[in-house]
Amino acid sequence: MTAPRSILIIGASRGLGLGLAGEFAAQGWAVTATVRSAAQQAPLQALPGVRVEQLEMTDPDSLEQLANRLNDQQFDVIFVNAGVAGPEHHSTAQASAEEMGQLFLTNAVAPLRVAERLLPNLAAEHGLIVFMSSILGSIEAGAGLGMPLYGASKAALNHLVQCFVRTQDNPKLGVVLMHPGWVRTDMGGADAPLDIDSSCKGMVAQVSAAVGQPGLRYQDYEGNPLPW
Ligand SMILES: NC(=O)c1ccc[n+]([C@@H]2O[C@H](COP(=O)([O-])OP(=O)(O)OC[C@H]3O[C@@H](n4cnc5c(N)ncnc54)[C@H](OP(=O)(O)O)[C@@H]3O)[C@@H](O)[C@H]2O)c1
Repeated sequence: MTAPRSILIIGASRGLGLGLAGEFAAQGWAVTATVRSAAQQAPLQALPGVRVEQLEMTDPDSLEQLANRLNDQQFDVIFVNAGVAGPEHHSTAQASAEEMGQLFLTNAVAPLRVAERLLPNLAAEHGLIVFMSSILGSIEAGAGLGMPLYGASKAALNHLVQCFVRTQDNPKLGVVLMHPGWVRTDMGGADAPLDIDSSCKGMVAQVSAAVGQPGLRYQDYEGNPLPW
């Protein structure tokens, strides 16, 4: 009997992260998933076999504590899903330094810190890191789709991931920048065409196929490549 595949999902209290935890668990994966506070554990704890951990992604101490708790546990996949929409005004004119700091720290800088710190926990021979990006982060395709500040934060994520990949000397490392589609979550809103289940089923199929595939891809939940 072979061991089930294992995944660490960062940011799984609700929305797509919670949906991913449920779908990976349903497909037999060993799932560890994080929430920011203990009070948010209940939906994940209701999923059979899911281990719940705690991480505030923008807090270096919280990341260090998670790394210590994980110790030398190995994952086939680390999926950094957590993200924020940014200020509702979506306006460069109105944006405060605090709003921009929080948006870019959460969506662009913190995901890379997580990946760098937890890289020793990724299976070296076939491991895959997935970062939740967005089509809105595409320089070619994202402009004009709305939410420019958020899109810029995801473009920054895409850039930092490209930089990260170039510093890695493991030729077997796989990295995916994922667009989940436009999905009905707290962030996606009620008008989005996709439900969480459809998006997550697609992403789980894509991630399952990408394990063991080295190199960097920017793609959507159906496997379509996206222009940078
Ligand atoms: N929905 C869409 O249409 C869509 C499209 C493209 C990309 N995305 C991306 O997909 C990801 C998930 O989005 P969603 O629609 O599921 O959003 P959501 O419902 O707002 O959920 C966001 C998740 O990220 C967590 N999170 C936010 N900041 C965090 C931090 N500093 N540390 C740890 N966790 C944090 C939240 O935790 P709390 O509950 O504690 O706030 C929550 O679990 C995001 O990266 C988003 O940018 C979404």
